[in-house]
Amino acid sequence: MQATMQVVETVKDLKSWRRAHVGRVGFVPTMGALHEGHMSLVRQARQECDFVIISIFVNPLQFGPHEDLNKYPRPIEKDLDLCRKNGVDLVFHPTVEEMYTGAETTKVVPPANITSTLCAPIRPGHFIGVATVVMKLFNMVEPTVAYFGEKDYQQLTVIRQMVADLNIPIEIVGVPTYRDKDGLALSSRNIYMNEEERLLAPKLHQVLCQVRDDALSGKVSLKYALTRGREIIRQIPNSELQYLEVCDAVTLEILNEVRLPMVILVAAKLGNVRLIDNLVVDKALR
Ligand code: PAJ
Repeated sequence: MQATMQVVETVKDLKSWRRAHVGRVGFVPTMGALHEGHMSLVRQARQECDFVIISIFVNPLQFGPHEDLNKYPRPIEKDLDLCRKNGVDLVFHPTVEEMYTGAETTKVVPPANITSTLCAPIRPGHFIGVATVVMKLFNMVEPTVAYFGEKDYQQLTVIRQMVADLNIPIEIVGVPTYRDKDGLALSSRNIYMNEEERLLAPKLHQVLCQVRDDALSGKVSLKYALTRGREIIRQIPNSELQYLEVCDAVTLEILNEVRLPMVILVAAKLGNVRLIDNLVVDKALR
């Protein structure tokens, strides 16, 4: 670990730091507004690598026209403090102009089989924006290994597929979702919730657990377990269920019967706040 953390804003400075540091380099791409979920990725990278690089960049390309790009939180000083405390060696914090030099950009288009369901139809273009920026960051940072949260399970699948399909020489590590004591998955967007919404939000994780238990009980069909789960979410005041599905944990194919490993995924709005969560089920509890 370096004694002092470096912060660079240009690709040129990033590249020159990179040339001076040889070893196993772990990379954690983020959009900032950092919390313990992000830090669990950093801590794992810290344990497994010689150097840890984090990027903080709110990527306009992955936001839809009516999404929260402008109001996305950007508490950079607080973020840098957290990075320092958790042993980050280098923070890459570029401007939009540094990342996207022209009016148009070449884009990375993930395959339709993993981007036609779940979040993709609700956020058109989102995964193209994610894949494109991650590809650019990979080329800039040239890490040995990159860490992504299981919290954004479809995103993790898109990145794994991109790395396999395009022969990118970088290891991808998925890190389990970090949760608050009441089960709510930590997210930069949680601060948008009012007190009442925050109290109701752990319901999503409870429903995921219930669907898992029902599905594994062998007493009810998966279809029934999902119908029951969807009903519970619809009953949350001011909620709007976007999806509750069970998918193959590798291909994201939507399942109609229990087949392990699988993942139960949910997206719902509480008031104006959109929350996503999931639960990987890889062995029967029985
Ligand atoms: P962001 O939402 O900032 O998340 C950065 C990384 O932290 C992602 O890999 C995400 O899955 C992980 N993460 C967030 N909350 C987590 C939690 N509670 N537990 C574990 N991991 C968590 O995801 C993005 O940024 C962007 O799409 C990005 C990949 C940086 C591309 O712009």
